Amino acid sequence: MSDVSVAFVGTGADPETPSVDGFAMAYQHADAYERLDDCRLTGCADIVRENAEAFAETYDIPDGGVFEDYEQMLAAVEPDIVSVCTPPSTHAELVVGCAKSGVVDAIHCEKPMALTWGGARRMAQECERRGVQLTFNHMRRFGQPFREAKELLDDGVIGTLQRVEYSWGNFYDNGTHAVDMCNYFNDERPAAWVIGQLDYHEEDVRFGTHNENQVFACWEYDNGVHGIAATGPAETMNESDWRLVGSEGFIDVHLTDELAVRVRSLDPDACEDRTYESLTTGGSAIDHAIADVVDALKSGRTSELCAANALNATEIIFGGYESVRRRGRVDLPLTIDDNPLEAMVDDGTLSPAPSDD
Ligand SMILES: NC(=O)c1ccc[n+]([C@@H]2O[C@H](COP(=O)([O-])OP(=O)(O)OC[C@H]3O[C@@H](n4cnc5c(N)ncnc54)[C@H](O)[C@@H]3O)[C@@H](O)[C@H]2O)c1
Repeated sequence: MSDVSVAFVGTGADPETPSVDGFAMAYQHADAYERLDDCRLTGCADIVRENAEAFAETYDIPDGGVFEDYEQMLAAVEPDIVSVCTPPSTHAELVVGCAKSGVVDAIHCEKPMALTWGGARRMAQECERRGVQLTFNHMRRFGQPFREAKELLDDGVIGTLQRVEYSWGNFYDNGTHAVDMCNYFNDERPAAWVIGQLDYHEEDVRFGTHNENQVFACWEYDNGVHGIAATGPAETMNESDWRLVGSEGFIDVHLTDELAVRVRSLDPDACEDRTYESLTTGGSAIDHAIADVVDALKSGRTSELCAANALNATEIIFGGYESVRRRGRVDLPLTIDDNPLEAMVDDGTLSPAPSDD
């Protein structure tokens, strides 16, 4: 494959005013593909025609590639890669539809994987069956502090990894980035069990999906390493956003208050502080993610943004919500189909007050 044809499902309306109601992420994906010499932007579909037209004008997509219906767009354009940049509740149906179209070689879908655990598994299964490369935009992995913290960990500066902790954001919307990062530090191992509790007293709907106000969850990976998520008021648990606890010290990774990696080791010579001017160099994190996705497709290697890795993170998140519903530990693999948080809101078990926003 020399030249890669790229199309988009869900363009968004306005990339200039990002909010939890709309970031127009497709523009960031498109900028990233445009940086690559071998990619051509050939089609886009959005149920709001003006959105697709404005996007097509920005990226010189020919009129014949602009549609409201993504299936018509796929049939007309036959793209090699499709970026799916729609709200989470639509991801499963659209990814499965793209895979079943038979014309697409790769799908790069925005996070979180899907609204439900059943949807997430179906996406992975249908793509696997049809030999379609499926990746998710957990692009923060490509940030310098994360890459360097992982190198330090692998170099043994804090001994053997015992626990990964995050205290940032929430458990689903940006939690999918956070848990994915924990899994990255622990060599992409799957979890064996998860136990959790949450508080949801004020409605927090992001990109159309409920997110709790506070979560505390603990899980154990199949290699004995533990994970902890503490969000909302519990974000103060550590000074940093991620803490990697080893047998001989810990590494703090800071993302929000500053960009930094701080090593605190029993070996005084190993202790150090690294700070960063920007999350990435040589392009944004999404630029790096898209470059990885395209390279994986062309070379046949597995991208680290692959569905298997995303499933590991998603299973911990839905497993944590399921633990709240069951009031007990959840042993994995997870056998539910739904999203327990959404289900608990729907049946009145949780009744968050409307938000002021
Ligand atoms: N990677 C990140 O850090 C990051 C940041 C923000 C948002 N996101 C994710 O990106 C995804 C998209 O969010 P956004 O903020 O770009 O949304 P957006 O609302 O800006 O754009 C989504 C577009 O999809 C269109 N759409 C909806 N259903 C469709 C369908 N069935 N077919 C075709 N078009 C359809 C809408 O009309 C809209 O134009 C979400 O999953 C969100 O969580 C990721």
